[in-house]
Amino acid sequence: MKRILTGIQPSGKLHWGNYFGAIRNMVNLQNEGNEMFMFIANFHAMTTVRDGAALRQSTNDVILDYLACGMDPAKTVLYKQSDVPEVQELAWYLSCLCPMGLLERCHSYKDKMAHGFEATHGLFAYPALMAADILIMNADLVPVGKDQKQHLEVTRDLAQKFNNAYGEIFKLPDAYIPDTVATIPGTDGQKMSKSYHNTIELFEPNNSIKKKVMGIVTDSKTMEEPKEPEGNSIYELYKLFATPEQVAEMAANFRAGNYGYGHAKKALLEAYHVMFDPFREKREQLVNDPDYVNDVLKEGARRAREAMTPIMEKVRKAVGI
Ligand code: TRP
Repeated sequence: MKRILTGIQPSGKLHWGNYFGAIRNMVNLQNEGNEMFMFIANFHAMTTVRDGAALRQSTNDVILDYLACGMDPAKTVLYKQSDVPEVQELAWYLSCLCPMGLLERCHSYKDKMAHGFEATHGLFAYPALMAADILIMNADLVPVGKDQKQHLEVTRDLAQKFNNAYGEIFKLPDAYIPDTVATIPGTDGQKMSKSYHNTIELFEPNNSIKKKVMGIVTDSKTMEEPKEPEGNSIYELYKLFATPEQVAEMAANFRAGNYGYGHAKKALLEAYHVMFDPFREKREQLVNDPDYVNDVLKEGARRAREAMTPIMEKVRKAVGI
C-alpha cells in the first residue's frame, strides 16, 4: 500500500480546472484504497496572502469544497498544515543543509519575481517547507500539477542530503503527475486559470455559472454552418462532464450543421448540473454543520500528528536536538 500525500494552497475559490486537474484524481486515489493524506497548506498561502480573515475564510472554503466533491475523512487524513507546526521545525533542519543555489533555480520563485512579487524569505524558502510537509509524513507518492515537479526534485535532493549527513531516515518520494488531463479551456479559450480571470468556479451561484457558460467565447459561425467540434472550448468542456454517448452526439450535431453554440452551451450547463448538483447539495449541508467540519479537522490533525511523531523523534535524535 502506498502512502499518498498532497497539499492544497487555500488561495481563492476552486474552479472547474482544479476539479478535473486535481480533486477528482485525489478522490479516485482514495477510493482505490491507498493510504491517503491531504492537507490545506495555509502556511504556504501566507507567502502571498496578507489578510488573516481572508486566509481563514479560504482555508475553510477549500475544506468544504473537497469534502463536498467526495474526499472522505474515513479514508483520507484531512488536516490543516498549521495543526502540524513540526513541519516548520523540520523545514529549518532541511534549510540548514539546503544550498541557496537549489532554491535560486526554482522556476516558481523566478516566476513570482517576474510577476512583481516582493522577494521575501518565505517565498524563497517555500520549497524547503514543502519538502518538510512531504518528508515528515514519509510519503511515497505526491500528486501535484506539472508546475510543482521541480519542488518534488528539491524534496528528493533535501531528503538525500539529510540522509547523507545523518543516516537513512527519509524515503525519497515520487511526484505523481497524471498525464490524462488535457488542458482545460477557460471562458476565453485560454487555459482556465485564476490569473487569466477566465475561470468558472465549482460552487458559484447557479445564475452566475449560467452567465459564464453562456458567455464562453466562440467563433462567429452561424447556426446553420457545420462545425468541427475538436478544439472547440464548449465541446472540450462538455467532454469533462458528459457521458461518451452524449459527447458523440454533440460531435455529430456540430458536424451536421443547424446546431449552434447556444445549443451546445445549454447542453454543457445541463451536464455540469447533473454532475455537480449532488456536490452542491452536500456543500450546503456542510456549511450548515460547522461542528462536523471542525471534528473532521480535529481528527485529521490527531492522525497526522500520530503519523509524524515517530519520524520527528528519529530526526531530532539524529540532528542532536
Ligand atoms: N506547492 C503546492 C501547490 O502550490 C502546494 C503544496 C504545499 C504541496 N505543500 C505541499 C503539494 C506538499 C504537495 C505536497 O500546488
